[in-house]
Amino acid sequence: MQAEILVHAPGRINIIGEHTDYNGGFVLPAAIDKGIHLRIRKNNDPHHCKIYSLDFNKCFAFRLDQIKPSKEHWHNYFLGILQELNKLGHTIQGFDCELQSDLPIGSGMSSSAALECSFIGALNELFDLGLDRMEMVLICQRSNHHFIGVKSGIMDQFASIMGRKDHVVKLDCRDYSFEYFPLQLDEYQLVLLNTNVTHSLASSEYNTRREECEEGVRLLQDTYPEISLLRDVNIQMLNSQRAHFPEHIFRRCKHVILESQRVEEATSALLHQDFHKLGQLMYASHHSLQYDYKVSCPELDFLVEHSRPYKGVLGSRMMGGGFGGCTINLVKKESRSSFVADLSLAFAKRFGKELSVYEVIVSDGLKVWQQAKV
Ligand code: GLA
Repeated sequence: MQAEILVHAPGRINIIGEHTDYNGGFVLPAAIDKGIHLRIRKNNDPHHCKIYSLDFNKCFAFRLDQIKPSKEHWHNYFLGILQELNKLGHTIQGFDCELQSDLPIGSGMSSSAALECSFIGALNELFDLGLDRMEMVLICQRSNHHFIGVKSGIMDQFASIMGRKDHVVKLDCRDYSFEYFPLQLDEYQLVLLNTNVTHSLASSEYNTRREECEEGVRLLQDTYPEISLLRDVNIQMLNSQRAHFPEHIFRRCKHVILESQRVEEATSALLHQDFHKLGQLMYASHHSLQYDYKVSCPELDFLVEHSRPYKGVLGSRMMGGGFGGCTINLVKKESRSSFVADLSLAFAKRFGKELSVYEVIVSDGLKVWQQAKV
């Protein structure tokens, strides 16, 4: 009998709080009902491993004692985690693994984080590594930094591992404290509109934004030596230093500071069921991401702009890292069909491609089961 482990790790949405995580700010994500399904078992070999992707119909075979970056991008998500576990002194032996996704790649719902989280959850169980959930989140993040080359924050992995059914989670990315809030939208619902655009610029621009924020912190430290993150800065402090800032660095910092504040306001709006306020905050977030942080793209801007005339749409904004992917829309249930139909038509006319539409069901984070197999 050989034990087989089954794992499901979901993608995520983010209500608000974009590009705040790596600045120690707040985010408000939730896990969704789409994600990566993975099964894994030991193969009794000390070194040989096989990972089969049902979606790509491709098999990746490698040796645990020869881990080095692969030209095939998707391989690196596994290799990076194995390397981080290796650094921590964990022993992994040969395994065979199979995976399948129902998350669209590059949609801004974080299929890559779901992939990482499913894999680490599987290894943790199969090899009894004794990692707690937060350790798994941080290992995935380090793998991104060291192996994938994207200096990401922790929002995506956190949501995928820690998400809770029917709740959003407000995470403080400075000290990793968090609180769950019920997501009760009454006659409203969240609709994702996927532009189906993926920009190759996304990861290099992402790292540039992070450097620009760090540059902002360095400039502010001349006057405020006690700060170490943009989270430690309020808008008055930033405004007082404007004369010493290059314009683009000023705008990046402004976005981060105000966006983190918007998360706090959005949480309170959610608690008071003030959906109009929540919607306004979403529009404000998009405006800031478009003009100050500059991580949007024409397709996303088009969707947000075209949502404005609809009475049944309270808010709309780009979601995730940017340069493509989805908008997240707060829509009255009764207006959903006409809104989606009209925007799909307008989008196809303007860009000559199709929108994909997803309803969001907020679900639990990482799930791991063990089943005996002959
Ligand atoms: C990507 C990153 C996250 C976060 C978002 C932007 O999804 O992986 O850590 O920075 O972009 O909010």
